[in-house]
Amino acid sequence: MPQIEAASPHVMNTYGRLPIALSHGRGVRVWDVNGKEYLDALGGIAVNTLGHGHPRLVPALQDQVARMIHCSNYYHVPLQEQLAAKLVELSGLTNAFFCSTGLEANEAALKLARKYGHDKGITNPKVVVYEKAFHGRSIATLSATGNPKVQAGFGPLVEGFIRVPLNDIEALKQATEGDKDVVAVFFEAIQGEGGVNPMQLAYMRQVRALCDERGWLMMIDEVQCGMGRTGKWFAHQWAGIKPDVMPLAKGLGSGVPVGAVVAGPKAANIFQPGNHGTTFGGNPLAMRAGVETIRIMEEDGLLQNAERVGAHLKTAFEKAFAGNPGVKEVRGQGLMLGIELAKPCGVLVQRAADAGLLLSVTADSVVRMVPALILTQAEADEIVALLVPLIQAFLAE
Ligand SMILES: Cc1ncc(COP(=O)(O)O)c(C=O)c1O
Repeated sequence: MPQIEAASPHVMNTYGRLPIALSHGRGVRVWDVNGKEYLDALGGIAVNTLGHGHPRLVPALQDQVARMIHCSNYYHVPLQEQLAAKLVELSGLTNAFFCSTGLEANEAALKLARKYGHDKGITNPKVVVYEKAFHGRSIATLSATGNPKVQAGFGPLVEGFIRVPLNDIEALKQATEGDKDVVAVFFEAIQGEGGVNPMQLAYMRQVRALCDERGWLMMIDEVQCGMGRTGKWFAHQWAGIKPDVMPLAKGLGSGVPVGAVVAGPKAANIFQPGNHGTTFGGNPLAMRAGVETIRIMEEDGLLQNAERVGAHLKTAFEKAFAGNPGVKEVRGQGLMLGIELAKPCGVLVQRAADAGLLLSVTADSVVRMVPALILTQAEADEIVALLVPLIQAFLAE
């Protein structure tokens, strides 16, 4: 079989790509155009909830493609109501808006927060955001992001953000002391791109109480950590709280682009016709992908699987690296795991791929795994067997 070059001379140079071109997949395995097989612990960056080529998702999507891919939001789209009702049931919130990506969902959340303020007579509304946060790459969402590398070259940034450290309620109180313009607090329940940094459950409860006391919206970005990845539908549910606004995307359509903002009573009626919209948002194909993804997750107990296999994987890494000063921490929950090393480790991405394992390194020194939620314990053991020696050898260099 001829070797096919992985190169893209006409595609904009926005990603530092590996010299690999993937061709197809099945479950948590993918093959490149040269026939090399990989175990996929990245899942398209927390997107491929059901893995690749799922035997029940594929025919459902084929059926939907043949019926209707897209119409317009000028009409009612019954599948939107079906997916919205399901997200309402799973979240305990009341209404959903549909878009296609995570940044769009976050952009909509930020617009909701601003209009919430304007409706109360606050003309310069401010939103509290967090250090190391990642919310997307539009101008507003990169302004909310807490990573100078993401912002460099794109100023002036959008105004109206107050940045605070994670898990420090006193810092949040101090930063907002006497500020009547604050309208919302916005964070990821577990930061993804920032290095798999969980918000403490007690902290989330404290923020909930503060938002209630001050009349702020609590907005939780569940784009990466949501949709069952941690073993609950949404990661904040481990804290027993409900946000007012919850952006979703990534895993919601198991690979078909779909985003959503789910809102509770404080935020569900802020947008009125003309305030917000997007051409592709809520199209029948995306909605069917969401409905079928959730149906299969429920039928196959994938939340329980994510929790169980994730705990197994985490324990295996903790054991393997116990007492190794090169490993600072193994953290995360369910199938959202990070291994923080004591030195930058970007080279591990290529080395792991060479060994037949796909993963990513984020925040320079955190090896991140966000595989499909169908991962079995045996497949988790394969990940451990491939990755542990690579990290050990790297740390010994
Ligand atoms: C927490 C979080 N929010 C938002 C985004 C942006 O999503 P998208 O790339 O679909 O715009 C990401 C992407 O990594 C994310 O992890």
